[in-house]
Amino acid sequence: MAHRWTNTLTRRDATPYEGFLNRRQLMAGMAGLGLAGLAGTAARASVQDMELNSWEEITNYCNFYEFGTGKDDPAANAGQLTTKPWSVEIGGLVDRPGTYDFQDILSEMTIEERIYRFRCVEAWSMVIPWNGFELADLLAMAGVQDGAKYVAFETLLRPEEMPGTRYPVIDWPYVEGLRLDEAMHPLTIMATGLYGKPLPNQNGAPLRLVVPWKYGFKSIKSVVRITLTEEEPPTSWNKANAREYGFYSNVNPNVDHPRWSQASERRIGGGLFARKQPTLLFNGYEDEVATLYEGMDLAQNY
Ligand code: MTE
Repeated sequence: MAHRWTNTLTRRDATPYEGFLNRRQLMAGMAGLGLAGLAGTAARASVQDMELNSWEEITNYCNFYEFGTGKDDPAANAGQLTTKPWSVEIGGLVDRPGTYDFQDILSEMTIEERIYRFRCVEAWSMVIPWNGFELADLLAMAGVQDGAKYVAFETLLRPEEMPGTRYPVIDWPYVEGLRLDEAMHPLTIMATGLYGKPLPNQNGAPLRLVVPWKYGFKSIKSVVRITLTEEEPPTSWNKANAREYGFYSNVNPNVDHPRWSQASERRIGGGLFARKQPTLLFNGYEDEVATLYEGMDLAQNY
């Protein structure tokens, strides 16, 4: 794992907490994140806006419609989800298609901490200390074939444990997709934990996608299927309302949602005095990802 990203903020930038990381994780994180060479930009940006959201905020204010559409429904209802055993079926244009056991995947992957901004299309945001591994490493394990251009993802659909799926809020199962170069980008991770603990069910246990420069709905939870495709895969919110939700869904303060502005966001936390702050292009990851979209009209490809 040679490549790492200086705008991947470290705990040292974001917060005074140190406690939960064991030494091995910390060392892996520091090596991985290139702490020694951490650019001033990240450190400076962190002063105002990189205070971590608390465990309570991250795990109680959720979107996981399989468990209900209220922000507190996932925390209330997801406890009943069985996440052991868990496997991910990886197929399509790969050399080694198959059903991969989650524990086997974990044993092959390097788990790191990644502190990312998280911006929901509903114009709220958090700063979240994820633990996880790069999606690129998982795709390498399966062996991506030449013809693959996209990666499709699917969430578990188990109505007996997911009360929200008894209602046709969207066309279940929840599905998402990325272009292959987006999926292979080092910022794109499969998260398996939060604050050094296993991912709570309401946040997408046991593994969920995190793409920090895109609106949160791209970060599909509780993934059971990953398929490499030649064609752009369908995505849940685009199927539900194509005018409001495109395939790309990159965070962009200059392209409003048809029903609200995307210029600013409300940082969760802070109680009555919750801060509104300007939204950053690509959610602050412009230096890392803008080249992926060179020559593309971001208003057309929303
Ligand atoms: N994945 C599934 N399967 N179902 C969902 O309803 N909601 C999305 C995304 N992934 C969702 C999902 C949305 S809209 C957001 S903002 C994030 O999950 C929320 O992640 P969090 O609850 O961990 O903050």
